[in-house]
Amino acid sequence: MSSNYSVSSTTTLSNGLPIPLIHLGVYESEGPACVSAVVSALTLGYRGIDSAEWYENESLCGDGIRSFLSSHPQHSREEIFYTTKLRDNGGYEHTKQAIRKSLSECGLGYIDMYLLHAPYGGKQVRRECWRAVEEAVKEGLVRTAGVSNFGVGHLRELIAAPDLALRPAVNQIELHPFNTQREIVEFCRAEGIVIEAYSPLVRGLRFEHPVIVELSKKYGCSPAQLLVRWGLQNGFVVLPKSTKQERIKENAEVAGFEISQEDMDRLANCHEKLVTDWDPTDCE
Ligand SMILES: NC(=O)c1ccc[n+]([C@@H]2O[C@H](COP(=O)([O-])OP(=O)(O)OC[C@H]3O[C@@H](n4cnc5c(N)ncnc54)[C@H](OP(=O)(O)O)[C@@H]3O)[C@@H](O)[C@H]2O)c1
Repeated sequence: MSSNYSVSSTTTLSNGLPIPLIHLGVYESEGPACVSAVVSALTLGYRGIDSAEWYENESLCGDGIRSFLSSHPQHSREEIFYTTKLRDNGGYEHTKQAIRKSLSECGLGYIDMYLLHAPYGGKQVRRECWRAVEEAVKEGLVRTAGVSNFGVGHLRELIAAPDLALRPAVNQIELHPFNTQREIVEFCRAEGIVIEAYSPLVRGLRFEHPVIVELSKKYGCSPAQLLVRWGLQNGFVVLPKSTKQERIKENAEVAGFEISQEDMDRLANCHEKLVTDWDPTDCE
């Protein structure tokens, strides 16, 4: 196990592409604060940005990325890993249009990771949406694709679909010690699907929990750093969100300590199936 996680650390997707282990999350990041959060993160060395059509900040993320690149000519677009997600599962044509719209909003030439944001709509609609994503990958609009909030049943169904060749490279789900999603995690690991942990800081709701307080003290880190480190040591891509430069910096400074296996287990035992936002993983 490495103690040296940093904003430069990557893991490898099943299609061979590298993906940064730490991304900046931008849910509820708006206006100039979103642009400056993206610029700050990239300046601090982050290389992954996690946006979505739903967040209505794709163009702000694009602005931030382009602003960073124009002021840092030594860096190139190819170094940055930009994710966005389909808002509504509206079928094949709708998804094709939504991808083109997201591409034009960000203005980045291509999307690194395109996700179905949720499994809503039923089996047939999910397949149609995924077929449009598959085509966008073939056309080069999207480099790689995955899903979000998919339960084991949804994943099985997509992998087994005879008319679909593309496998989801990632599944982005809510994941932290208070919601460990054991069944989905085990399935994804067995299938080589990289797991992305959203709301890795539990949206700040458990910073005062006695185990978090005790272990943060023990490892000389902040609660946010403990939670990011827990996700990384589990092999997850983590997506901490902040619009504040000092927190964006703090959330990625997780190299100076290593959580023991015993304490990793103590953290996992905090599981209470806490849902901080939504949980579509068992929808039809
Ligand atoms: N696929 C999905 O359905 C889905 C759902 C939810 C989230 N996500 C993705 O995952 C990302 C992260 O999840 P999230 O935004 O729900 O929550 P989160 O990252 O768990 O927590 C963000 C909250 O913690 C605060 N915070 C950040 N760093 C902190 C620090 N060091 N100390 C104290 N407070 C800190 C932030 O406030 P400030 O901004 O004021 O610092 C914000 O209120 C999202 O931004 C999004 O990209 C995806």
